[in-house]
Order: sequence, then C-alpha cells, then structure tokens
Amino acid sequence: MMLEVRDLEVWYGESQAVRGGGGVSFQVAKGDLVAIIGANGAGNSSSLRALMGLEAFALFPLLAQRRAQPGRTLSGGEQQMLAIAHALMARPRLLLLDKVSLGLMPSMVAQTFATIRDLHRQGVTILLVEQNTRMALGVATRAYVLETAAIALQGTAAELAANPQVRRAYLGG
Ligand SMILES: Nc1ncnc2c1ncn2[C@@H]1O[C@H](COP(=O)(O)OP(=O)(O)OP(=O)(O)O)[C@@H](O)[C@H]1O
Ligand SMILES: [Mg+2]
Repeated sequence: MMLEVRDLEVWYGESQAVRGGGGVSFQVAKGDLVAIIGANGAGNSSSLRALMGLEAFALFPLLAQRRAQPGRTLSGGEQQMLAIAHALMARPRLLLLDKVSLGLMPSMVAQTFATIRDLHRQGVTILLVEQNTRMALGVATRAYVLETAAIALQGTAAELAANPQVRRAYLGG
C-alpha cells in the first residue's frame, strides 16, 4: 500500500474540518488512481493538506488550487497542464490533484482528464479530489465519497458510478 490514511482528523482551532473516529480513512495502492468526490466544504482539501504535512512532504506535491499566476498568456487549462508538468518534475511517488478542472471550459476539462489518464497508464499513482464526478469516476480505479467531513461511500469507480445515491447527488440522476 502506497498510502494508508486511518481515522484522519483535521481541526482549525475549535472547529473540526475532517472527522476521525472511524471517519476519514482511505487507501491508495501503488498504481491506483483514487478519486475523492464530495460536497463543497466536505473537507477534501483539508485532507490533502494534512497529507502534505507528512514526513514524505516532497513526495506529495499538491497542485495549486487555482490562484493568480503570472503567466497571463496561458489559458486556465494550459496553466493546469503546466502545473501538472511541474509537479511531475519532482518525480512524486504519489501525485495529489485538487480540483484541477475547476473553472475550465469543457474542452480543456476533457484534455486535462486525458492527461491524467495517460499519466496513470504510464504508472503514476494519483489521488484526485474532484468536483466533476462524472469525469473523475471515468478515469479512477477506485473512489471515495466524502460527505460532511467523513467518508460516506467507497468502492470501485464503476460501483460508485452505478450507485443510486451517487447518481442522484453527483451525476444529475
Ligand atoms: N484555514 C481554515 N481555517 C478555518 N477553517 C477552515 C480553513 N480551511 C477550511 N476550513 C473549513 O474546513 C471545512 C472543510 O474545508 P475544505 O477546504 O477542506 O473543504 P473542501 O471539501 O475542500 O471544499 P471545497 O469544495 O470548497 O474545495 C470547511 O468548513 C471550511 O470552512
Ligand atoms: Mg477544496
């Protein structure tokens, strides 16, 4: 197992962002492409940021959430590709991606996910937090649904894509 997270808790002062006690646990095997999907504010980014704090820090480059970038001549999609390329230069054992398709136009979303799929096929292990559930489940081997700061569902990407709850809440029926 490349990464095993058990009962993760994240607190911001008095307020608990990610709940433990049987709450947030997940695993990423070598060669996996694991997707974490879930509602806004469910604690996705907090979970990834907590992993960044591990001793294996340099091995877990978290892609920037969208932020102002100097390369203004690049489109949002091009900037994301560049960010992925930069992250890969560190030869990460595990690539952490946080909402890489956020705000991109549909053609760039497709291109970004094609890149992620290629990287996975080339053997890169990936943990992906994504708001685009359909695309995420399309590329992932396994997935977790994070709801109100705890893992609510898990399974293979195909199982979750067929799950009525997931279909209703995240795939528009
Ligand atoms: N720096 C912070 N200080 C205090 N509370 C925070 C901080 N960052 C996040 N939170 C709170 O923790 C909870 C989880 O936030 P987090 O950013 O992890 O959610 P998320 O699932 O990534 O959401 P989003 O869909 O917006 O990306 C939220 O209630 C949020 O308001
Ligand atoms: Mg987030």
